[in-house]
Amino acid sequence: MTRLTFHAKLWLITGIALLGIVGFLLWRYQIAPTEPGYENYKWVDTKYAGIRTKVVQKSTAHNTAIVEYIETGNNPIDTTINTKADSFVAEFQKDSDELTRLFGGKAEQNVSYQIVRNTPTHLSVVVTATQLAPSSHPEHQTAYWTFSKITGRAVTLDDIFGQANRDGIPRLEHLVRTAIDAKLRANHSSTTMDIANEFLASQPLSSFLTADAASLRFDFAQGEVGAESDGDISVTIPTDTLQLFLQTPTARQLFTVSPVSNAPIFATADAKADCRQRKCIALTFDDGPSQLTAGLLDQLAQKKAHATFFIIGSLSVRRASTIERQVREGHTVANHTWSHTSMTKLSVAAMEKEIIATNQALEKITGTKPSYLRPPNAAINKNVYAALAAQDMTGVLWSVDTRDWADKDATIIYNRVVASARPGAIVVLHDIHRPTIEAVPRIIDTLSKQGYVFVSLDELFGKNVKPGQIVYKAA
Ligand code: NI
Repeated sequence: MTRLTFHAKLWLITGIALLGIVGFLLWRYQIAPTEPGYENYKWVDTKYAGIRTKVVQKSTAHNTAIVEYIETGNNPIDTTINTKADSFVAEFQKDSDELTRLFGGKAEQNVSYQIVRNTPTHLSVVVTATQLAPSSHPEHQTAYWTFSKITGRAVTLDDIFGQANRDGIPRLEHLVRTAIDAKLRANHSSTTMDIANEFLASQPLSSFLTADAASLRFDFAQGEVGAESDGDISVTIPTDTLQLFLQTPTARQLFTVSPVSNAPIFATADAKADCRQRKCIALTFDDGPSQLTAGLLDQLAQKKAHATFFIIGSLSVRRASTIERQVREGHTVANHTWSHTSMTKLSVAAMEKEIIATNQALEKITGTKPSYLRPPNAAINKNVYAALAAQDMTGVLWSVDTRDWADKDATIIYNRVVASARPGAIVVLHDIHRPTIEAVPRIIDTLSKQGYVFVSLDELFGKNVKPGQIVYKAA
């Protein structure tokens, strides 16, 4: 028998100690069997403080599901997410039992969650399930939420848009459809928007993901909004064009929101247009002048209604006489930028150029520098406020969203305005669509009977009501 040297003993003792520590750590943090043979689990810390994952492997004779459960310490949140994961597993086990009976072999499912955003107040999470069964293609399913950590509830689109700005939801839906369509085209997909339209009609958007303070995200699993071969489709919608609609306290916690405010009614001595005494409403027309504008001016003149025209600068030269007529007949002529590019996509210098060139072109025709500007596509950020202040102008959005650009139908447009009309409201329309022009006399007739007076922005607000700010109605 050989005698161990001092050094060998030291190594042996160190080795045993290390094995002990590793063993303890494995026991403490890793595999801990529960029901033998059927379910194993282990805990894993995530990179997010206080959030752990419980990885559970559930096996039957026919299948194995590996499931990541979340543990945030917030019970309602954990329950919602993990219940959904369980429902994916239950569905899979049922399906795969049938498939393996038919085809033999084993099926596997992987259920995993991802944290998309974690703020002090909110948690945005997506759960994804992928399953591989004998003789079938991999199948994907997803579910997602943005939770309030305060209430433990999933925040809905209604919560972020608020009751007053529910018009933002159809606008968002339009943006989502457009983004899906773009993805399908980029994929050279075998399908059109039929599947997407059917899916969105049966499951209207309600929950959402958010990766940062400037976007909303919607994840659609394979086959939901496209062909199976298109795979999963995720669309990210920047919030820059939705600012007008994201004015709730919940929206402000989640997103960088540019403030949009009421403006006071102009104190005029003219009783006929005094909106402090009368129910005033402001029809505004964007994107013109067009070849339809003269006909609209005839209608407005006949009904003694005033309106406001947000002119695209590049169109002004060709239709200078129409703009002259607008001013002559008591309408307000205003700025809709030179090229109608979303200002949030422009540098500060390019933004100023768009505004100044349009002001100069309009001043040349009308003799007056415009006071009002409508940002194209309602896209605003802090640079837009600075540019407005520099030009001593007021931004104007709207409180009645007709979406006449999406639904080119005179009855729908008429109906939306009549349903949402309020004293001090600003209505957005476009004098480039025939159904819009057709709807206007009906709108004026019905609302006149209810006592409304149709005024220009100069009559509603006076000139330069809130330079450097953005307003959307009078109150
Ligand atoms: Ni426009």
